[in-house]
Amino acid sequence: EKGGYEHFMLKEIHEQPKAIRDTLAGRIKDGLVDLSQEISLSAEELKRFDKIHFVACGTAYHAGLIGKSVVEKLARIPVEVDVASEYRYRDPIITPSTLVVVVSQSGETADTLAALREAQKAGAQVLGITNVVGSSVAREADEVLMTWAGPEIAVASTKAYTTQLIAIYLFGLYLARILETRSESELAEATEALLKLPKQAETLLEDPSAIRRFAGDIAQHEDLFFIGRGLDHAVVMEGSLKLKEISYIHSDAYAAGELKHGTLALIEEGIPVIALATQKAVYDKMVSNIIEVKARGAHVLGLGLEGDDELGKSVDEVITIPETLPLLTPVLSVIPLQLLAYYTSTARGLNVDKPRNLAKSVTVE
Ligand code: F6R
Repeated sequence: EKGGYEHFMLKEIHEQPKAIRDTLAGRIKDGLVDLSQEISLSAEELKRFDKIHFVACGTAYHAGLIGKSVVEKLARIPVEVDVASEYRYRDPIITPSTLVVVVSQSGETADTLAALREAQKAGAQVLGITNVVGSSVAREADEVLMTWAGPEIAVASTKAYTTQLIAIYLFGLYLARILETRSESELAEATEALLKLPKQAETLLEDPSAIRRFAGDIAQHEDLFFIGRGLDHAVVMEGSLKLKEISYIHSDAYAAGELKHGTLALIEEGIPVIALATQKAVYDKMVSNIIEVKARGAHVLGLGLEGDDELGKSVDEVITIPETLPLLTPVLSVIPLQLLAYYTSTARGLNVDKPRNLAKSVTVE
């Protein structure tokens, strides 16, 4: 049942190229995203939304954070992102021109469902992004966009996250097309880049040896940091959650520019820092932040783009991901972080697929 893999998590990590391919299938026509078969909202209705709320928990919340950047950049609609367990209690401003996007692998998470119902009561339209056909989210949301990751068994979510990102890109590109906020050539370029992701993810999975080595090292520690800027910050939040969840090592994920406002005090000789530097627009700033932690003795694993010959000069070890559009990098950059969590957990001899205290589907609020 594990297809020759030692754990479901490793199997599911390796299934990502296929899961991404399946989630893209049938949704691109003549080089552009077309969701008109699945989303029943007309162009007129889509144009009426003046804000979007992404609401979800855990890993799905981290996908929502990427969703904010994607939708704001492509469709120029203001987006807020909320943890579902907080959303209802902060008296959010929901109107009939609000689109609430709930993201849930299982489609059964109690907090997410409660948010969905509350949003509908306030008159909003709800788009559900879910992986389970017939789930509560799939049944109750006004519009549904399925992720086609296939069953996810390991408690730690991997392929569900990457396919949630794909669904979000598809939605963002579709919205941008309808709203005409991006030129057709830009949309075509992004769509082409999207189609290259499965193959690039495959390449990335070929040789985990460097990550495995670093995992062996961090398995000895009780504390570490992840840093990144822009989209990389959202990705390190997911990397940190994954590591905590299955290795029981404490870590924090910081927006790298924020370190010097307090957290830098915790950086001492030998502490592992995992630094993402895949975003060109903030690359130089990110390298400065890496130098700040290096100067305090951190042992830094840098994750950058293929062809980046600079990063190696300021970190101890480098891992690269294939180059894609800056907006799409999270789909690739999260994969080494998933593997890092996996190999750290196995190095510690832990129960990777069923970490302590956690359930696959959280049906209590
Ligand atoms: C982390 C993880 C959880 C879930 C969260 C939401 O690896 O799996 O954080 O992402 O419980 O679950 P769904 O997506 O089913 O609503």
